[in-house]
This record gives sequence, structure tokens and C-alpha cells, in this order.
Amino acid sequence: MRMYDIIKKKRDGEELSTEEIDFFVHGVTDGSIPDYQISALCMAIYFQGMTVRETCDFTYAVRDSGEKLDASKIQGIRVDKHSTGGVGDKTSLVVAPIVAALGIKVAKMSGRGLGHTGGTVDKLEAIKGFETTLCDEKFVAQVNSIGLAIVGQSKQFAPADKKLYALRDVTATVDSMPLIAASIMGKKLAADDDCIVLDVKTGSGSFMKTVEKSKELARLMVDIGKNAGKKMTALITNMDRPLGRAIGNSLEVIEAVETLNGRGPEDLTDVSLTLAGHMLSLAGKGTVEECIAMARETIQSGAALQKFVETVRAQGGDASLIEHPETFEKAKYSYAVTAPRSGYIASADTESYGVASLLLGAGRNTAEDEIDYAAGILLTKKTGDYVQKGEEIATLFANDESLFAASAEKLLAATEISVEPPQDEPLIYGIVK
Ligand code: URA
Repeated sequence: MRMYDIIKKKRDGEELSTEEIDFFVHGVTDGSIPDYQISALCMAIYFQGMTVRETCDFTYAVRDSGEKLDASKIQGIRVDKHSTGGVGDKTSLVVAPIVAALGIKVAKMSGRGLGHTGGTVDKLEAIKGFETTLCDEKFVAQVNSIGLAIVGQSKQFAPADKKLYALRDVTATVDSMPLIAASIMGKKLAADDDCIVLDVKTGSGSFMKTVEKSKELARLMVDIGKNAGKKMTALITNMDRPLGRAIGNSLEVIEAVETLNGRGPEDLTDVSLTLAGHMLSLAGKGTVEECIAMARETIQSGAALQKFVETVRAQGGDASLIEHPETFEKAKYSYAVTAPRSGYIASADTESYGVASLLLGAGRNTAEDEIDYAAGILLTKKTGDYVQKGEEIATLFANDESLFAASAEKLLAATEISVEPPQDEPLIYGIVK
């Protein structure tokens, strides 16, 4: 088999066989296929797409490209949630402790920030001492003892995806439906949870910009998971505006803690409770409505916050930061971005908001970049709010004042102010089962 022929076949819009897909994924994993041929095939897939059969084969090959978690050592039902990536999306930090507080096991493997989107592992590392690399034995033991552990993916885990993702990130082939589905589901299936809830983001801050495309991606991923014997649900949620008001790592942890304290922003609270409700329901705790009510109760009683504190402590993090989030290290400088005219915030290009935060040091431009955990943005106004000319719409935080100008410019260019209020948009567009 020759890689040249596989690239040509896909370039010409033909369907690849299971053997050809396996050959490709093996070659990615063992390094025998050079980067330029991998990238060329990704680009051909980007333009020609894949059938459902090809995407399933691709996903299973990614799943099988490395080690898998031996989940049989975890007692009880394991449930996970995964987001396709957004801006200000700190739901995992809220949802995982809620679900674990209700006795369902959450053995969470999370990612780092990608492009303009943030990642749970980076956020957790904003908590001093928090260890996101645990060996399998420790990981399993922690899930068995307290019900929750959150780590980054190890090198041995779906290594084909690691390589593919790094190349897609620099060859403009991230936002391809089969490539996203195989990337996300390949990793999720290798983690071998019993139930998976997908949070498929839609809108300007997500990889899928329209509701139709997001529903299609959700359907595809749900079918891939079910085909592999998993219980699956996907929610299509709004990413035409950042979730909550905080963008940036420690700012987002603080907002997640506020939410676990019952004082979080309404959109973040609602999406988190809905995700938790679906996770609990898939795990057999009751109807979605009953489970949402139980989830809410864990916030009111403090049980979810307590579970988060326990998890942070178990993973070596400074739990006093969670108990007193006002003690997180602050950025040295702040800068108020003000409205250039009066009117309603009619729309905000959320991807640009993510980039504006990245420009402050909260994300990476290259894989080697160090993150400034205190950097980021607090939105004073969001889509639908009225602003007076000169009124603050956001505060930027950075440890280097010279970063403010470019970030503020990006944020303002992405914010449309108009005399008419925008139409209300739903927070959750649909559920795919
Ligand atoms: N998240 C992933 O893990 N992979 C993708 O391709 C997109 C989002």
C-alpha cells in the first residue's frame, strides 16, 4: 500500500477502505508517514469529507493507536462529558464535582487549549500545585476513593490524535467534521467510560459555526459512540457568546468556584446543570428533570464545592484557593475597554474574544508557549446589554502592559454595537440521542 495512492483516492472523492484507513493511522502513530503526506490527506479529507463508515473506521483506528485505560478497575458507573471547544467554557470544573457528589464516577481526561479555545488542563494548572499527570494506578485509586480525578491525556493515549491534531492545527484543517469526530471520539472511546455526554458548541466561538453543522457533528459522534456500545447524548449549546463572563485560566477557575457556590452567571449555571442532569440520567439516576433538580441540590448544599475541594487536595493543589478564590494571584495590570458609542451589544465574534484573551498571555500561539494563568478578560457587558458611550464593556488583565493595545483592538473590532437590541438566542439549541 502506498500513501501516495491513498491521498490521490481521497483527493478524487473516493471512499477509503478500512485497510487504507488503518494503514494511514498506523503510519501516523509509528512515524513512518512523513508530515507532508499526513497533512495532504487531512486537507483532502477536509475538502472531500468521509462517509459514516470511513469516519467510524478512522475513529476506532485512533482509539486503538495507543494504550487504553483499564476501566474495569474502577468500581461503579463511569460517565464523562466532552466539549467540542469554546471560549470561557469552564463547565467541566462545575459539572464533574456535581456528578461525583451524587455517587457517579468521573474519570476525566481533559485537553489543553487549542487555537482560540481554552482547555480544562490549563485551567486546573492555574491552581498552585495541581498535578494533571497521574499514573494509571493513582488515577484509578483516586476515582475509586473520592469519585473524581481530572488529568491530561498521557503520551501513550490515542497518540495518533496527538500527532494529527498538531498538524491540523498548523495546516488549517481543524474544522473538518470527520476529523473532529474521529479526534474526539477516538480519545473518548480509549478512556472507556460507560456513558458520554457531548457538549457540541455552535456559533462564532466554536469550530462548527452553524446549528445545522453542529447537529450533524453531534449525530455523527453519538452514532460512533453507540456503535461502540456506549450510552450517548449530545447537547448543542450556544457559543455565539462566551459562557459566563470570565475568559482566561485563573479567572475561569474563580468563576467556576462562584458557580459551585451558587453565585455563578446564569448561562454557565444553566448549561452546567443541564449537562450534569443528562450525565446523571444516562448513568441511571432518574429522568433528566429529576437529575437536574438533584444537581441543583448539590450546589445548594455545598456538596459539589466540597467535592471539588477534595479533588484539588487529592491532586496536590492548594485547596485554600478554592475555599478563598479571592486569594488567586492577580495580574499586575488591568485595562478597561470602553464602548466607542452608545447602543446595544448586538453581537460579539466569540472566536476573536478568545484570541483577544490569548494575546494577553492566557493561551498559546505555539505548543511551546508558557501560559500566564492570571491573564484574561472579564466581560462587564455581553450580547444584549445596553452600553453608554465611554462605559466599560470589559476589563483586560495581563502581566505585561504592552499587550493591552492589540487585545483591546481585537475585542472592540469583534463587538458590534447597534441601536436595536439583538434577538434573544437559546442557550441550548437541541439534544441528540
Ligand atoms: N477537540 C478535539 O479533541 N479534537 C478536535 O478535533 C476538535 C476539538
